[in-house]
Amino acid sequence: MIDLSQKIAVVSGGATLIGEKIAEAFVNSGAKVIVADINDEDGNKLADKLGDNVHFIKTDITSDENIDSCISESIAHFGGIDFLINVACTYLDNGADSSRDEWLTALNTNVIGAAIFTQKVTPQMKKRGGGAVVNFGSISGKRAQPGRMLYATSKAAILGMTRNQALLLAEDNIRINSVSPGWTWSNVIRDFSGNNREKADGVAEPFHLNSRLVDAEEVASSVVFLCSDAASGINGTDLAVDGGYTAIGPEQKTDRLPELAS
Ligand SMILES: NC(=O)c1ccc[n+]([C@@H]2O[C@H](COP(=O)([O-])OP(=O)(O)OC[C@H]3O[C@@H](n4cnc5c(N)ncnc54)[C@H](O)[C@@H]3O)[C@@H](O)[C@H]2O)c1
Repeated sequence: MIDLSQKIAVVSGGATLIGEKIAEAFVNSGAKVIVADINDEDGNKLADKLGDNVHFIKTDITSDENIDSCISESIAHFGGIDFLINVACTYLDNGADSSRDEWLTALNTNVIGAAIFTQKVTPQMKKRGGGAVVNFGSISGKRAQPGRMLYATSKAAILGMTRNQALLLAEDNIRINSVSPGWTWSNVIRDFSGNNREKADGVAEPFHLNSRLVDAEEVASSVVFLCSDAASGINGTDLAVDGGYTAIGPEQKTDRLPELAS
């Protein structure tokens, strides 16, 4: 059992299902959580559901002013910030046809939002003797996927950014890592599949060693682990929470050699 009592985590993009499970996991470890998201309806609902240890602050991570006010309100509400979890993202992507505006919007949300939030929040962590940041990469940052360009590029950038942030902030006792989920039971996959978990697991089966989607709770427990002292030796790296997606190659899980002999 990880004990994070007295700790405060800010979760950008926390109003979504993955964010909700992260907030729950932090609360179950004794921490308090700020959910920072542009979606105030779901953010407020989540804070109401999880109780006094979770507070919602409407925040657009593409706005420096919004990030500043989120940080001040977090400190006024809970007294400080120890962890930042950069979950917020956009899936805006027109593949090879993406316009300059679409590129700028996608990178602004997925990379620059996380970079500036980290830049602005880490002085607060320093005041508390250190802290941890968990960025969100993806299998999409490591493998090409059909139809994708902006999202995949932004997630690859997150992995590089994480290493450099870790180097720059290590002297302040702030560790920066990322998690890279595989296909995860999330708002997006729930909506795509018509809320059909069995169908979604079936689609994911051939290319995840675990033969199913990753659960949001599995992503959340990895995030909490990376913030905890149990992960004190882990810095500047990526934790694949992908059910084995990146462990296998194009042959997937089937032995293709017999095909040669047949
Ligand atoms: N769903 C998956 O299978 C999967 C797989 C790999 C990685 N991921 C990563 O997990 C994270 C969550 O993904 P998801 O599928 O739950 O996405 P989602 O679209 O459901 O959630 C993203 C959240 O970010 C918020 N957001 C968007 N723009 C924002 C902004 N400018 N400021 C503040 N908040 C903003 C949204 O309101 C939403 O609550 C992302 O970083 C994504 O890249 C997801």
